This record gives sequence, C-alpha cells and structure tokens, in this order.
Amino acid sequence: MSDVRSLLAARLDPAWGRAEPSGLLADWPERLAALSAASAEVASITADYVSAIAAAGDAAALQSVRNAALSRESGAFTEALALVPSLSVDEKRVWGKALNLGRKAVEDADKARRAQLEAAREADHALDVTLPGREPWTGRPHVLAQVRDDLLDLFHGLGFSVYTSPEVELDEYNFGKLNFAADHPARDAHDTYFVEGASDVVLRTHTSPGWVRAMEERKPPLRLVFPGRVYRAEAVDASHMDQFHQIDGLFVDRDVSMADLKATLNTFARAIYRADLPTRIIPIYFPFVEPGVQMDVQCVRCDGRGHVPGEEGARRCPVCKGTQWVEVLGAGMVHPNVFRAVGIDPEEYTGFAFGMGLERIAMGRYGIPEIRLFLENDLRFLGQF
Ligand code: PHE
Repeated sequence: MSDVRSLLAARLDPAWGRAEPSGLLADWPERLAALSAASAEVASITADYVSAIAAAGDAAALQSVRNAALSRESGAFTEALALVPSLSVDEKRVWGKALNLGRKAVEDADKARRAQLEAAREADHALDVTLPGREPWTGRPHVLAQVRDDLLDLFHGLGFSVYTSPEVELDEYNFGKLNFAADHPARDAHDTYFVEGASDVVLRTHTSPGWVRAMEERKPPLRLVFPGRVYRAEAVDASHMDQFHQIDGLFVDRDVSMADLKATLNTFARAIYRADLPTRIIPIYFPFVEPGVQMDVQCVRCDGRGHVPGEEGARRCPVCKGTQWVEVLGAGMVHPNVFRAVGIDPEEYTGFAFGMGLERIAMGRYGIPEIRLFLENDLRFLGQF
C-alpha cells in the first residue's frame, strides 16, 4: 500500500508549474470530491498532476507531465495500478477505484489542455481577412513646404517661374546692388550673420538678392519667384527665429505699373486667405523699391474689429494687437538704381517686386501661435498638416 502511494508520488517533478484545474475540467470540483471520498492521498497526488497539466505552456511540457503520469512503461498511474492485483480484496476496492478515477482525471485533463494549446496555436496563425489592413506610416511634406508649394502653384498660374539662388551670399548682392548705401541704417534692420573670415560674405537676410542674379543672367521680360531660407541674427521668441523662409517675386517688362502690382497682390491674397478679405497697401521704405509698400490684410482673428470677446467683455485682439490689420508682405516698384546695377535701362523697363514670409502666412492660415514649432520636427505638430 505504501508502495502504491510512493510509486504514485515518485514521478512528480517539483519544477512543474501549477494552475487551477477548473479551467481545464469544468467538473473538477465534483471529480476531486469523488476522488477524496475514495482516497485522500490519491486525490491530492492526482491534483498535483492535473494542475501541472493545466500549467503546461506548450506541447512538450504537457507531454512530459503526461508521460510521468500515464506512460505505458513507467507512468506513475500505470505502475501503481499494476500493483493493485496483489492487494487484499478490501484494499483492491479502495485503491482500484481511486487510481482509476485519478487516471481518468489526468487523461481528460491532458486531452483538454492539448485542445487548448492547439486552439491558441491556430489563433496565432489565423489569417483574419475581415481585419482592416494596417496603414503603413507615410511621411508628408513639411507644413512650410506645403504652403510654399501652394504659393508656387498660384504664381505659376500667373506666369512666374522659380529661380533659386544661394543661401550664402555676397554682401554685394544681399545689400550693395539692392541699393543699400554702405552705411545705411537699413542694413541694421537685417541683423546680418557674416561668414567667419570673410567680411563680404553673409547668410542672405532675404530672398531679394535672387533678383539681382536673375537680372544679371537673363534679359527682360522676367517673371520669377524666389523661394528660400533666409537668416537674421535675431533674438528668438514665439514670433522670431534666426532662420525663416521667404518667397520674393519679380516682374520686369516694358510698362509694368503699380496697377499690375496691386492686381497681383490681390490675386494672391484672395487665393491664400479669402476671396472677399479686405486688403490695403500703405507706403513703407525699402531701399530697393520706389515707391515701397506694405500690404496688409484684414485681421482674420477678429474680423477687422480689433477686439475679440473675452471672459470679462471684449479684449484687444491678440493677433492684430487692436490694429485691425495684419502685415503680410513688402512690395514696390523696382528702384532705378537696382536696374542700373544689373545693366537694365530704367527708362526702357519698369518692374515690380514683392517679398513675403512663409512662416507668417502659415501661422495666419492655421492659427499656429509659435514660430519655433516649424523647426522642432515634433511629429505631433507636423502630423496635423
Ligand atoms: N526683401 C524684403 C524683406 O525681406 C521684402 C521685400 C521684397 C520688400 C520685395 C519689397 C519688395 O523685408
């Protein structure tokens, strides 16, 4: 008898995991009760095997528990049952019944666990054709590139083509040939970065030097746009960066007038902002145009009212600062001195030019409050456009 007990327990491996058998055998509590009634010892050892089966993580682990319990040559239940015929009649009845119940429980648990593992394996490999596909991550143009391309599209439609010119520029092109006198204070407004070791080489402070290169290289009529990055040694804050982007435009031909400039600028404003958005042109000084103007559009934030509703009544509009207008670009008629500097006769040709900042346009269009976002490459920002 003690042989039966020790044979049965001998193959238990303390390394096996344990899990609650009820998940495998729904009637486990009843089976355990019947087993316990027959033999508390067989019940407890059987429970050890069954919970090891419930814990078996793969087919191999399951097989080794099964072998320990049931294998034909050396399984614990096989060997214990082989001893039964040698027991007394009373013992036979008790042990025979308990061992058969135990063996049946182990067999059923093994079958159930095998089915579970197989189902999990199939679920892993199953191809569910009804699942929506995984959208591959795709990039997109930067918001500034989108705004630039919209503008280039618009100007292409008006007959302008793109001219690119260097970001590292001669002082002579950035300033001199654009009619900035050597000691003119207008240079100060540009907060220029000079290239180390060369007092005559700068990072361009605007895209206007492109006009000079284009006019030196080509003959009028000219209808060109100059997109690109520009640099100014400015203190960085929410609306200033020391690098940003501009698009200049240049139109040179016989009899080009202010009327052509205004029509072009209004076409731009209507396309980019709103068809009925009021615009205005007011005089302003730039060395390279005469007359020089600034175009403003009515503030879209406050609808030109200058104030917006706030918690305690109206407050000053944060975008136009109460002025009702937002400046969008500088423009004007090309200064005769600029024409002379590039060998074009200002008596024969006239022209207009304009220059605008892409960041400002993008900020106005999308309500972006902070210019530094454009350069930070934060996908949470860029993914919105
Ligand atoms: N280049 C000027 C600037 O950067 C803008 C401008 C362009 C003004 C063309 C007039 C004409 O401020």
